[in-house]
Amino acid sequence: MSLTGKHILIGISGGIAAYKIPELIRSLVKSGAEVRVATTKNALEFVTELTLQTLSGHAVYSDVFAAINAHATEHISLPEWCDAMIVAPATANVLAKTAAGIADDALTTTICSCVARKPIVFAPAMNDKMWENPATQQATQTIRGWKNCMVIDPDEGPLACGTSGKGRMPEVEVLQEAIEYALTPKSLAGQHILITAGGTQEKLDPVRFISNYSTGKMGIALAHACARRGAEVTLVCGSVSAPLLNPFARIHRINSLSAQEMYEACMEEWSKMNAAILCAAVADFRPMETAKEKIKKEPGQESFTLHLSTNPDIARALGEQKRPDQRLIGFALETCHEKENALTKLERKNLDAIVLNSLREEGAGFGTDTNRVSLMLCNGNSYELPLQSKAQVAEQIIDTLFT
Ligand code: C5P
Repeated sequence: MSLTGKHILIGISGGIAAYKIPELIRSLVKSGAEVRVATTKNALEFVTELTLQTLSGHAVYSDVFAAINAHATEHISLPEWCDAMIVAPATANVLAKTAAGIADDALTTTICSCVARKPIVFAPAMNDKMWENPATQQATQTIRGWKNCMVIDPDEGPLACGTSGKGRMPEVEVLQEAIEYALTPKSLAGQHILITAGGTQEKLDPVRFISNYSTGKMGIALAHACARRGAEVTLVCGSVSAPLLNPFARIHRINSLSAQEMYEACMEEWSKMNAAILCAAVADFRPMETAKEKIKKEPGQESFTLHLSTNPDIARALGEQKRPDQRLIGFALETCHEKENALTKLERKNLDAIVLNSLREEGAGFGTDTNRVSLMLCNGNSYELPLQSKAQVAEQIIDTLFT
């Protein structure tokens, strides 16, 4: 999502994960945001003030009584200035102080005056034993209960102290997704949305399958856009190569590689959903049989005949069971008579709208980061969207179809 004109305040406390924050600043600035930084004294042992100042383009607020402070009230003016704040890494110490309302340095005074006013994301990062400490858990739970506050669960994996466990700060893209979530109005709160993404794989034998070029980028971008707006997303994933960013676990992922598995997963979920967006490139046919052993080529063999059977049409099956309160959106990718074919599908599959991808357009289609689509609605309305990033296309699809 574009962050042009957005003011993001980053609070850094003294954990080794602070080394990731310069990258976060760069990424936010690249997305158009203006960034300011407040830190504890200890944080500056891990990342230099000069680095933070250079990348953000602003003086760093780390000392309540320093002479560089314009009015010595940065802890009040910074929260006023920002649209959202992120505290990353949030140490056990800063979480405990925040929960108790303690404000005894530049960062904790800033957090204290921000909590009741602006959305704040906390990204705890620490040794797993410190994370498990009941005081840390209780502080986290207290903060989670506050209206404007969100806490990202730390990841599991190798920790800086040499052990492995829960306590790692998520990567920069996840932190940015969390900030974008914090900035987005929750227009889809209470909605359950099913999304299919990626290509299916139809097994031929233990080492081969039939598939297509889909990477799942568009479906995952749609899942991000819906989750940011507050929807609960069930993402049925075929083969995907794009990363799924899920800071607040609003996306429930079900892996289903074949069309049949995807069909079964979607049929199971559909009655609980308010809407479905079927973005997956589902194979129309599958090998009639999956060989138990690898299929061998005989000496001198000139050809090989493969018998295929038809896969279930998920969109059509959901369309047949669709209740009047549910919305069903399909995708179409055509190589000729694009609009006519898409309109036929819209009608035949009982869809409310269809998104027509163009393969002919430069920068659109499989694997690219950009896409150009047209939206066709069952009421006859249609919209041509410009060539833009898949994330922007996803935003526009949701804004057009869900408002
Ligand atoms: O008929 P076609 O495959 O072009 O239709 C495209 C739309 O139908 C997409 O939304 C796709 O996800 C969905 N589809 C499906 N099950 C199939 C084939 C396509 O849900 N077996």
